Amino acid sequence: MTVSELQQRIKALKEEKDFCILAHAYQSQEILEVADYTGDSFALSRLATKVSNKNVLLCGVKFMAETVKILNPEKRVFLSSADAGCPMADMIDKETLLQLKETYPDYAVVAYVNTTAETKTVADVCVTSSSAVKVCKAIPSDKILFVPDCNLGDWVAKQVPEKTFAFMRGGCPTHLRMSVTDVENARKAHPEAKLLVHPECHPKVTAQADYIGSTTEIMAYAEKSDAKEFIIGTENSIVEHLSYACPDKRFYPLSKDCVCHNMKLTGLTDVYRALQGDAEEIVLDEDTRLKAKASLDRMLEYGN
Ligand code: 13P
Ligand code: SF4
Repeated sequence: MTVSELQQRIKALKEEKDFCILAHAYQSQEILEVADYTGDSFALSRLATKVSNKNVLLCGVKFMAETVKILNPEKRVFLSSADAGCPMADMIDKETLLQLKETYPDYAVVAYVNTTAETKTVADVCVTSSSAVKVCKAIPSDKILFVPDCNLGDWVAKQVPEKTFAFMRGGCPTHLRMSVTDVENARKAHPEAKLLVHPECHPKVTAQADYIGSTTEIMAYAEKSDAKEFIIGTENSIVEHLSYACPDKRFYPLSKDCVCHNMKLTGLTDVYRALQGDAEEIVLDEDTRLKAKASLDRMLEYGN
């Protein structure tokens, strides 16, 4: 079967079974083409509150599917690939965060959305990469314990100098593969190109960038820019998506190693099988869901 024949089957199944497909921007081009909505973590969280279908299939990683379930208890929510986790989300659990809170008793806990539903239950507010600065500025506390990504946290803290930040040493193993040497090599190879990076990168990398933003923000910047060449410092699927979106511009990966293997676990056939009933359903107990929802609701309120 060809890719487009499989895509047609997926579209028909989606209608028949009343599914909405939400796909994170790191999914492959052929998955984005069958999705109803695509975007960064913040866009997907917002869209999750507006979906009218009975069933949602999230193509991405587990914390994203949990976010959809937390915001949509009446819907059945499925994850495209049962093994698709996020190593950064697994760097902190509820117990570790409770211990940290004891060390920083008068700090508001700001949790990156890349955390488990359990961890979110003891956070004050969640953030995504595109809402973090806005949310940290808006919350009433002057002291912020930012978990788990200290690199995103460092980037946020620089833009919110009026507040005091504390961090743990967590981060995204995928984005941390990109180094200052990669920047030097890419700049040398493509001297005219603009360097666009994700704030999950190491601060020494973001310090060299022409633009820093979430996946969606990087794509929007490149599409609108008058520049013709770009070095992309985030998961390499964005290089491919931008090449389709702007065929007259050139896009180069900052590092060929910037691949999130968890995001890559979902293929088009997994989407097909998931719609046929072979997918992991997200189930959360109501107490966990309600407590986690409070921190997501605050993110949506402050971040909008
Ligand atoms: P955004 O979707 O906020 O750009 O985050 C990227 C990411 O690493 C998601 O896991
Ligand atoms: Fe997690 Fe990083 Fe992969 Fe995003 S890119 S899912 S933060 S490991």
